[in-house]
Amino acid sequence: MRFLKIIFFFIAFQLSAQQGGMWIPSLLEGMNETEMQSLGSKLTAKDIYDVNNSSLKDAIGHFNGGCTAEVISPKGLILTNHHCGFGQIQSHSSLENDYLKDGFWAMSSEEELPNEGLYVEFIVSIHDVTDSVLMGLDDTMTETDKQSQISKNGNGVLKDWAKETWQDVKLKSFFKGNQYFLFVTERFEDIRLVGAPPTSIGKFGSDTDNWVFPRHTGDFSLFRIYADANNRPAKYSKDNKPYKPKHFLPVSLDGVEEGDFTMVFGFPGRTDEYLPAVAIEHITEAYNPTNIAIREAALKVIDAKMKTSDDVRIKYASKQARIANAWKKWIGENLGIKKSNAVQKRREFEATFTKALKEKGMEDTYGNILPEFDRLYKDYAAINIKRRNFIEVFFITNELMNMTIRAYQMENAKAPEKAIESMKNRLKGIHKNYDVTVDKGVFEAVMPFYNKNVDASIYETSAFTNLDSALKLLEGEPSEVFKKLNNDAAYTYAKPMIEEFYNETNPEFQQKNEPITALQTIYMTALMKVLPEERYFPDANSTLRVTYGQVRGYSPRDAVYYNPVSYLDGVIEKYVPGDYEFDVPQKLRDLYDAKDYGQYADANGKVPVCFLGTNHTTGGNSGSPAIDAEGNLIGLNFDRVWEGTMSDMNYDPEICRNIMVDLRYVLFIVDKYAGAKHLIDEMTLVHPKK
Ligand code: ARG
Ligand code: GLU
Repeated sequence: MRFLKIIFFFIAFQLSAQQGGMWIPSLLEGMNETEMQSLGSKLTAKDIYDVNNSSLKDAIGHFNGGCTAEVISPKGLILTNHHCGFGQIQSHSSLENDYLKDGFWAMSSEEELPNEGLYVEFIVSIHDVTDSVLMGLDDTMTETDKQSQISKNGNGVLKDWAKETWQDVKLKSFFKGNQYFLFVTERFEDIRLVGAPPTSIGKFGSDTDNWVFPRHTGDFSLFRIYADANNRPAKYSKDNKPYKPKHFLPVSLDGVEEGDFTMVFGFPGRTDEYLPAVAIEHITEAYNPTNIAIREAALKVIDAKMKTSDDVRIKYASKQARIANAWKKWIGENLGIKKSNAVQKRREFEATFTKALKEKGMEDTYGNILPEFDRLYKDYAAINIKRRNFIEVFFITNELMNMTIRAYQMENAKAPEKAIESMKNRLKGIHKNYDVTVDKGVFEAVMPFYNKNVDASIYETSAFTNLDSALKLLEGEPSEVFKKLNNDAAYTYAKPMIEEFYNETNPEFQQKNEPITALQTIYMTALMKVLPEERYFPDANSTLRVTYGQVRGYSPRDAVYYNPVSYLDGVIEKYVPGDYEFDVPQKLRDLYDAKDYGQYADANGKVPVCFLGTNHTTGGNSGSPAIDAEGNLIGLNFDRVWEGTMSDMNYDPEICRNIMVDLRYVLFIVDKYAGAKHLIDEMTLVHPKK
């Protein structure tokens, strides 16, 4: 018995010890490679990242800077999430061609749709340049001097780096400025839409199911990369050819079961794993609640109108999704932080840190860090909230206020003629997806969070509520334009608030935030020196990372356990005819009734839809491939479970899970639902388990 207990303890410890982290692909040799193999991986570090030979990394692209996509055919076919291609799908949609509602499938290359501005970027190589970037720095320098030395060094490194003419170089800071890496990249700019399921599949469950499990969303879309005659990056041209990748991922038809190794390879955006307890407290108790409240108010207005008007539904699709996504995430993050007692646990960790400081005689160097955080956060809390509320109202939820901000920037630009011209384009962009009734409703709902004086009458007279009158206001000499501008009702209403923001709020925020950032750098150094045995990985910073784990269910609350795999049966269970979120297309119901699943069902004759893993992911990992022990594609990452979204600050292997679409569901929809078998034929389908 006792022996068993010890073994059990050992296994449990091993499990949690091997979880969490977003690792730098060029540094996997050693610890990570061993850990991955102990979790079931058969891959070597070189299979994943190699500069001299093709490797998995050559199939992974940064999709438009915010998501991830992977190459899945020798003809440049790439897979990402439906919600990552959402903006493009929306912009090709109209009341006549409602691709959001009906889906889109190019049946030949001629039918593939170009997307202005969309790009996919690959990593050619990664280099540690810390020594060059930190050269000449010493502890006697002020923070400002340090930063300017770093940026001078960094620019020098970038300028001197040898690269091909079609490549770029980028420098990124890791471990809060303790390490620097240089990335050589290739950016492809001719990316065409190939396929997207209807929203009732690609966004099935919408906001009700967003961030939760059990999940039944087929959150995928397909694009294709085009390159010039030399297979190099190029702007859109009819003559471009499908890109021939250095590597593309074979697709496994064998699926997963609980305990299988999984690895997620992509571009996580931002995490903050080394915050002091006082910061987590500020975020959960002040920052998240104010954001949640403002967005909830805006969503109430937008959602109601989207449900009754197709025109508004198409226009507001992306905006609504963006607002709703973070809104629900913050609620989940707060839940998870409370449920896992994260603040308390972080305090206990800090006590361990303090104790170790004493034992190692490092109190003099690092003993003031934690008390200093407490003091700085007290001073910073109010201005952070004030600034954030302004951003939510003026930049994120209300378009009229957003237009006044842009107008203010135009009025203060160095080259007014140019600024007026680019303002015209910006207004055209905004008005393409604008509805004045919705925006006025949003204004009335959100402005009280920033200013009690809510004057909605500006909507009656302001030129900006209508594209023609807004463009007319911008006609004439700059002096004339600015005179008209300063007579506009919305502009004169907003201008004092905007001036306060730029002249007072933002400078005060920066002044109070800077010492926190600087202290966080020192804290990171201190942690790694004082507690070297802890698990340290660099916070996400939109660079390519590897995270790994296993397929696992979880227990969100007492007596409840979620199996790690969901099935098409669950889609049908959730089906509500005609519903805004849970309608299911007739064709999919027919396939289900006929059990017409082709080669895409599992051994029990069921079509898997989504599955869970312990991979440590965040925003930006959307569209990332889930890869099996041998390097085949098994899933498409698109979300995390609600209780686990706190993993951005506090990864807890008990409840943090990422959610992936099973690739067999993707193939089933492409083949059986859309009839786009030609796309399946491009791929390499494999049976690694047979
Ligand atoms: N929650 C996922 C992510 O963070 C999916 C979002 C899709 N958008 C939505 N509003 N349902 O991006
Ligand atoms: N849906 C997220 C994204 O767009 C990924 C989910 C997450 O935040 O983990 O990147």
